[in-house]
Amino acid sequence: MTKVTAPAVLAAKGTRKLAMLTAYDFAAARLAEAAGVDMLLVGDSLAMVVLGHEDTLSVTMEEMLHHTRAVSRGAENALVVADMPFLSYQVSVPEAVANAGRFLKEGRAGAVKLEGGREVLPQVRAIVAAGIPVIGHVGLTPQHVAALGGFKVQSKTAEAAARLLEDAMALAEAGCFAVVLECIPAAVAAVVTKHLPVPTIGIGAGADCDGQVLVFHDVLGLYDRFLPKFVKQYAKLGDLAVEALTQWADAVRNGVFPGPEHVFSMAPDAYAAFISRIHTDATAAGPEATKGDPA
Ligand code: KIV
Repeated sequence: MTKVTAPAVLAAKGTRKLAMLTAYDFAAARLAEAAGVDMLLVGDSLAMVVLGHEDTLSVTMEEMLHHTRAVSRGAENALVVADMPFLSYQVSVPEAVANAGRFLKEGRAGAVKLEGGREVLPQVRAIVAAGIPVIGHVGLTPQHVAALGGFKVQSKTAEAAARLLEDAMALAEAGCFAVVLECIPAAVAAVVTKHLPVPTIGIGAGADCDGQVLVFHDVLGLYDRFLPKFVKQYAKLGDLAVEALTQWADAVRNGVFPGPEHVFSMAPDAYAAFISRIHTDATAAGPEATKGDPA
């Protein structure tokens, strides 16, 4: 597989489907890389599935950078996309450019993603002008969870669907090389995909999108707090992990682990010298030091 770049993702529109998966650390990046995933999104879902927060709002730039660096170290060919966390781009355009730049400069990502429609166009234009590839994100935008009143399906009315299409088109015109469509009716996503000149990456947006993204922990059954309707679990690694860890803890309690194959040996003469040295040292230190010596 050759290195996936933002222009390569753009060129995939209409020619092949794109697979994007979230990753938050080196090990996950290596696994996804071995599976031939095109893009690794260091999603702000990190806040929920790794850090245990209720939503994505609390994760910081420093936390996102820390995990982006780890993913970049594990990604050989996949394009690493760093998710810009809440309030890292909304406050001002210069701050948005500076923070986006940190993901490439310090995190070694190849692109950033940010949430929102027409209200974030100045930020998108400025980040793209700085030479940083951007992915847009419309539909359910989890950073707006408070305003939306929860994680709900979006664009269910004709007006809302038309607004979403306009937002997605504006993001593409502003320079986004792909747009994530989250939690919208499949029929709306199909229309947006048809109109947009850049790939759509769907999550809960049906099969007609140009690509799909899911959360690593959801695909593998590693997050048990909440399973959205749009997730298909391809494995139940959480159950397997609990089974394995229970066996290990039982083996420790029963004295079965570690076995002889897990320990390091010492030459018998070295051991004998060690024991005799303990006794010599203890005797030389006087009667007080030998108190309680079991030997
Ligand atoms: O943070 C994330 O995981 C995301 C995807 C769900 C698109 O933004």
